Amino acid sequence: MTENKVEVSDDGGQLRLVMADGESLRFHAFWLRDNALEEDTRSLANGQRLITMADIPNDTKILHAEVTEDANLVIEFTPENKRAMYPLPWLKAHAYDRPAKMEEGWLSQNLILWNSSLGNQVPVVDFETACKDESGLHGWLRSIRSHGFAKMTGCPLESGALIKVAELFGYVRETNYGKWFEVRSEVNPSNLAFTSLGLQAHTDNPYRDPVPTMQILYCLENTADGGESKVVDGFAAAKRLQMENPESFSYLKNYNMSFEYNGDKGQILKTRKPMIEISAEGELTGIRFNNRAAAPISQVPFEKMSGFYEAYRHLDAIIDDPTMHVTFKLNAGECFIVDNTRVLHSRTAFSGEGKRWLQGCYPDKDALLAKLDYLDRVEAG
Ligand code: FE2
Repeated sequence: MTENKVEVSDDGGQLRLVMADGESLRFHAFWLRDNALEEDTRSLANGQRLITMADIPNDTKILHAEVTEDANLVIEFTPENKRAMYPLPWLKAHAYDRPAKMEEGWLSQNLILWNSSLGNQVPVVDFETACKDESGLHGWLRSIRSHGFAKMTGCPLESGALIKVAELFGYVRETNYGKWFEVRSEVNPSNLAFTSLGLQAHTDNPYRDPVPTMQILYCLENTADGGESKVVDGFAAAKRLQMENPESFSYLKNYNMSFEYNGDKGQILKTRKPMIEISAEGELTGIRFNNRAAAPISQVPFEKMSGFYEAYRHLDAIIDDPTMHVTFKLNAGECFIVDNTRVLHSRTAFSGEGKRWLQGCYPDKDALLAKLDYLDRVEAG
């Protein structure tokens, strides 16, 4: 079997690790010193870094490096005269000497894009199972990460019980709508979500910064005709736009949209953010789309406004395309959760006969992902 090998550059500024499996990875001396795992650099209790940049000499070099028989890389740094040890699997897991990611707009490999062909294969778990069986909860959270939404059935028929669903993985963000809010027909509503009209698919509250990252919509009564719930994969819509017209995709990531909501006394909520959000690494990370919250766009230059509107109209048409829609009736005692940074939601029109009573709340996605990462790690042993 080939051995793990290490070669240090002549100036000691970097090294090359050639693994037994043939993989070759370079690391900089400064990076290695910064990421030393010993307790003088990182807390052994919680992994937090205990030094600042200024504590690492600017002329840090590798004086000596070797790979031990038990697969650790051991380094002596100068001028600190510091010794550090790194397990090879740790180095592989944190390596950065790899080909650049794919084209702009790439997606995390945890995600699964979907459209109407998902049909009735909506990810679902029963409330009791999620409460009592950790693997049941784990599977549900995993499908929320992959699909950006999931249903739950068998939920308690009591007002406010949606908070129990959020507490399965995290916490609810309180807003001017309260810890949770009612979604039902009202006379003289200040917000169109409370009427019986059909709604265009949207992400909630794009006029906030940060936006609510998850939403639970929880059904306590639904005897009205229509009023079905509809979801659209915003990432699938953005990727389709990118494929059909890359220039339009660029417009919507490069220029901000304006969003505003003045429906509540004493508050003016407004933001300027792009409809398609790309991270500094080129990853597609967010969608904001809400025709009702759209405000006059004055930040797009005159010469670019026609192109911007063309792009906006194109994305709008993709979102309205039934081949992108997954529709389901939410019955009393059922709820669904959406990743509000990715999946758009709406409902079809419903008649005034019968009742439709939902409650909604905004849990935070970071807590959901934190719980999921923990369960993944437990499962992996
Ligand atoms: Fe909504």
